[in-house]
Amino acid sequence: MNLDEESKTTETDAEPSDCVLVSLTLNETISKIRWDRKISLLDAILDAGIAAPHSCCRGNCGTCVCKLEKGEVRLRRNFILSEAHLQQGLILTCVAAPVSNTIKINYDEF
Ligand code: FES
Repeated sequence: MNLDEESKTTETDAEPSDCVLVSLTLNETISKIRWDRKISLLDAILDAGIAAPHSCCRGNCGTCVCKLEKGEVRLRRNFILSEAHLQQGLILTCVAAPVSNTIKINYDEF
């Protein structure tokens, strides 16, 4: 990570923003993207050119699961994750709606 990337993550959660700053780890690579609040987290990741795992895009299969390490999202629907999974911080990116202005997710560890 270079200093320019680091400085992009210094926004606070004090005011709502049109975009959520996302730090994501996938296949041991850390990426920083902006998530337009009008689209799903999965779509934002795919739009950024990151080949994140996905299949149904409806919250049915669990292929897009990752761990939310920082920040907050809301799942529009969820037919896969148990309460225990949710307590562990697991989320489905295809049905994730933003709550906080910054999040950190990890596909590699959960
Ligand atoms: S892609 Fe199937 S649950 Fe998200």
